[in-house]
Amino acid sequence: MSTFSTRLLHWYRKNGRDLPWRKTTDPYTIWVSEILLQQTQVTTVIPYYHRFLDRFPTVHALALASIDDVLKCWQGLGYYARARHLSLAAKKVVCEHNGKVPSSFDDLVSLPGIGRSTAGAILNIAFGQRHPILDGNVKRVLSRYFCILGDLKEKNNLATLWQHAEAILPPKNADLFTQAIMDLGATICVPKSPNCTACPVSRGCLAYQKGLAHKLPEKTAKKKVPHYDFIAAIIYSGKKVLIKKRPEKGLLGGLWEFPGGKFIGDGEINALVEKEIGQCVSLSPLDVKIQHAFTHFKMTLHLFSGAVKKRTVSDPALKWVSILELSDYAFSAAHQAIVVRLQDGAEYL
Ligand code: ADE
Repeated sequence: MSTFSTRLLHWYRKNGRDLPWRKTTDPYTIWVSEILLQQTQVTTVIPYYHRFLDRFPTVHALALASIDDVLKCWQGLGYYARARHLSLAAKKVVCEHNGKVPSSFDDLVSLPGIGRSTAGAILNIAFGQRHPILDGNVKRVLSRYFCILGDLKEKNNLATLWQHAEAILPPKNADLFTQAIMDLGATICVPKSPNCTACPVSRGCLAYQKGLAHKLPEKTAKKKVPHYDFIAAIIYSGKKVLIKKRPEKGLLGGLWEFPGGKFIGDGEINALVEKEIGQCVSLSPLDVKIQHAFTHFKMTLHLFSGAVKKRTVSDPALKWVSILELSDYAFSAAHQAIVVRLQDGAEYL
């Protein structure tokens, strides 16, 4: 066994975090935890993990659930494609694998939402197999330990990282090793100020020896994120408001929102909303703006309101709901901020 894995495992036995998904060996539960943890910090994930598994305790329960129910449970966590993929993958596991989470790499990686690293993590932790993993934390640890310069997304660097990830795996205890390297990345080998004096593997760390640990991985020039203005209309009919479901595919697919869209120019607001809802409405601007940052763009959501007399619904994606019933639907963060205002008693007419 390499000094890296010996020291890391020794450190983990004393310092490993007590996390809820480490109390189970159920492959479904571990799979859910790994999907929740993609691009999301442990402290954010924990309450979602408990709620999700209370609501969908088995792969059968998840496979039978509507995508609306799954998205509702995911609301606020972001990266909603994860929820859609998990739901599709659960159906596939039930239909094609007799309800058993596959224990072969090829079967697992062919499920929606499971890439090479996530498949490796699930197989190591749930099935005691031995596969390399390479999530964001592990990339940072390895780029420092082996002093890998340049853009880690670059093909050669990525290939080198996978080779190192494979080479440092101990012959046994890949499950503990997987959790250990994740904990090292999350608690010691952190992005900004790595705590190298407390690191169990600093003696072998090339970046540490060169005084470069805090500079790696090297930053790549970030593309400037564009900003767009969007509008959302709170359309009343009596005590009900109109909401619309986004198409299943694409950004925020399957989530609900207040009708509107990307703002092009003044004078087009009524037309834009009328097209969305299939009826005429006269809108007034509200003095409310909601800011939200996605990975690829920033937006300002400008609120408008209006009323219609007749509750016509020309489109199955449209629904009239009471303010209380808004809680039954999954909204994106920006639109959920509108829901919160309405449920706090704001009246916009
Ligand atoms: N990040 C991804 N998987 C994880 C795990 N099993 N424990 C802690 N952090 C993680």
